[in-house]
Amino acid sequence: MEVKRLKLKNFRNYSEETIEFSPRTNLIYGDNAQGKTNILEAVYLAANGRSHRAKTDTQMVRFGEDYAKIELEFADKNRVYKIVIGILPGNKKSVKINDVPINKLSVLVNYLNVVMFSPEDLELVKGSPRMRRHFMDTSISSLSPRYLSDLVTYHKVLAQKNNLLRSARLGNKKASDNIDVWNIQLASAGVRIMKERQSFVAGLSNEAMQIHKDIAQSELRIEYSPSFELDILNSDNPEMNYLRKLEEVKQREIENGSALYGIQRDEIKFFIDNNEAKIYASQGQQRTVVLCMKLALTEYIKRRRDEYPVLLFDDIMSELDEKHRLYLADSIRDKQVLLTCTDREESKGAKIMKIENGKVFAE
Ligand SMILES: Nc1ncnc2c1ncn2[C@@H]1O[C@H](COP(=O)(O)OP(=O)(O)OP(=O)(O)O)[C@@H](O)[C@H]1O
Ligand SMILES: [Mg+2]
Repeated sequence: MEVKRLKLKNFRNYSEETIEFSPRTNLIYGDNAQGKTNILEAVYLAANGRSHRAKTDTQMVRFGEDYAKIELEFADKNRVYKIVIGILPGNKKSVKINDVPINKLSVLVNYLNVVMFSPEDLELVKGSPRMRRHFMDTSISSLSPRYLSDLVTYHKVLAQKNNLLRSARLGNKKASDNIDVWNIQLASAGVRIMKERQSFVAGLSNEAMQIHKDIAQSELRIEYSPSFELDILNSDNPEMNYLRKLEEVKQREIENGSALYGIQRDEIKFFIDNNEAKIYASQGQQRTVVLCMKLALTEYIKRRRDEYPVLLFDDIMSELDEKHRLYLADSIRDKQVLLTCTDREESKGAKIMKIENGKVFAE
């Protein structure tokens, strides 16, 4: 896949700008706070329907304006597409693909795939489990609309269940009875989510292990470590097993006043030469793991979609040492990448653009 042209109107610190991309490396450089990340954010938004960092859509509207519009032309191996996203007053969003309005954001998933890699991702190994779930969820959602809708349903039901658990803790008998109904729904979405996560981690792990061996000459192992043991999937009726587990812990959850078990507590574990990376890995080792995960994800998407995603690398080169930089440079050579950095670097064949105060100057 390849992004060709991005038009921004009132997006972040851009008033009006058009950016043309090369099908290979695009080097986007400039001082801090000039608008480099904003460009990657706009591309990410067109791919996923949401920002990778903004909590609300309105944040992306240029100060003092009441709407923003981004227009992205991109191509897969068959044809050219245009996605137009409008951010309107009241935190509303409109999306059009080739001039046809779409009303479900999850439809976007079938078009453009991107892999974002930014300095915050370096926390993936040692950060909270939430980060690792977020990695699974955004990655799988960008390939499967079904997963995304299961996840949304699951979290809505979980919020209801938590309300009941709070009441049940205060002695409300009816609330306690009603929990069972929500548990049935949680089991059904929960099992589908577990299966997807299991196959995602398995699909990533060989590739990541191989890359890791190349860079670090040591053994990386990645494990999906769900809240309920994986065994529950290996039977004729995983939903029944999941439900049974929820019933077993029901009393404990009531005493706690909120849910303690389920896919909202899942984890990914990394081991380097059999030592758990979260506990033992050095800074450099953590970076290597994250780099391996991002590159493995790129290959995983290629396998699923039969095309490479567009890579959005935000200011990460400065975070990596020489060896990692060289490895990365080599593995992105045949892919489209939008790479931001603060200093202009020599990069053979790259399109180089300087960003200054919301304006783009192509060399
Ligand atoms: N809604 C908005 N309207 C106007 N300006 C905004 C808006 N949101 C963010 N900005 C500004 O856009 C500028 C550029 O942000 P961006 O994150 O793209 O910087 P950057 O070039 O990536 O910088 P760094 O090198 O520090 O990461 C910042 O000064 C920020 O305050
Ligand atoms: Mg930035």
